[in-house]
Amino acid sequence: MNILIIGGAGYIGSHVAREFLDQGHRITVYDNLSSGLRENLFPEEAFIHGDILDYTGLLRAATGDNTHRVSKMPVFDAIIHLAAFKAAGESMIKPEKYSVNNITGTINILNAAVEGGIKNIVFSSSAAVYGEPEYLPLDEKHPTNPENYYGFTKREIELFLGWYEKLKGIRFANLRYFNAAGYDVKGRIKGLEQNPANLIPVIMEAAAGKRPEVQIFGDDYDTPDGTGVRDYVHVNDLALGHLAALEYITRNDKSLTVNLGSETGISVKEIIEAARRISGKPIPARIVGRRPGDPAKLTASSKLAHEVLGWTARYSDPDTLIRSTWEVYKGTAK
Ligand code: WQD
Repeated sequence: MNILIIGGAGYIGSHVAREFLDQGHRITVYDNLSSGLRENLFPEEAFIHGDILDYTGLLRAATGDNTHRVSKMPVFDAIIHLAAFKAAGESMIKPEKYSVNNITGTINILNAAVEGGIKNIVFSSSAAVYGEPEYLPLDEKHPTNPENYYGFTKREIELFLGWYEKLKGIRFANLRYFNAAGYDVKGRIKGLEQNPANLIPVIMEAAAGKRPEVQIFGDDYDTPDGTGVRDYVHVNDLALGHLAALEYITRNDKSLTVNLGSETGISVKEIIEAARRISGKPIPARIVGRRPGDPAKLTASSKLAHEVLGWTARYSDPDTLIRSTWEVYKGTAK
């Protein structure tokens, strides 16, 4: 297939692009490089440096830059949309930024897809749509009550996609990622996220001597060791999930909303211990207060992904998550 990957130079997007290239698809990446990196681009793919808020540019990309084309045949078979701001904490302080980029930007993408006759969209949604869990593991039937504005933008986009399906015949896959982590197990992607706030890159920066310590946000949760438990899913697994989801919606002409998680809960302390063992670095850690809005435990049911996509996380064990990440960070160690 010929695929437009919007946000394809980012951390998750570059892993998705790599997987689709490996499977023989043709790729064009559209990215404004605000957090994406040139070094995450591959020689086999086309690249358009563009912003999703620039509707004209987006339309040109979606229609193959040929506004006078005679044929109305779509240029792309599918869009994979990963372009968003994703810091949940920041979204509570700067909702405007998330409204404009995540929501307005996505509406531009949907309208450009309609104009370009592109019928299939794979969307990076998030477990943040669920909010505080009423039960665990979270399945797709769990009510969606996002606790932060970021999660709200993801839920709204899922609803827009539902309407564009009804009104414009767009097929979509909403992929509700749990905690994305790890780096390409074959070592082909090395771009580091700038100013990370997520646990694993923070631990890696401490291991590499770029920050003095890891702050553990609370050890008094109702979990076995008192620290927060999350479902970490390797980006290579996520990338395979995109492939399976696009195949599913095109083959069955049917949309899909599905969790992508490992179904395994790992605590903050367990991740730090694994990182110490694998890196051989002491990684100083200090317990500080809870971070507002953090639930004690989040784990996914990926039963649906297994049943309909034949997808199961293969690389999401703590050792592979940490080892593949340390491979990238150790080169930056002081
Ligand atoms: C993981 C655990 C923290 C940093 C976020 C988004 C969510 C989704 C995934 C995209 C928690 C603890 C963290 C630190 C710590 N994103 N922690 N010290 O908050 O589960 O989820 O990423 O869709 O929307 O909110 O991820 O990596 O920030 O935290 O102790 O310096 O690590 O309290 O228990 P989170 P995280």
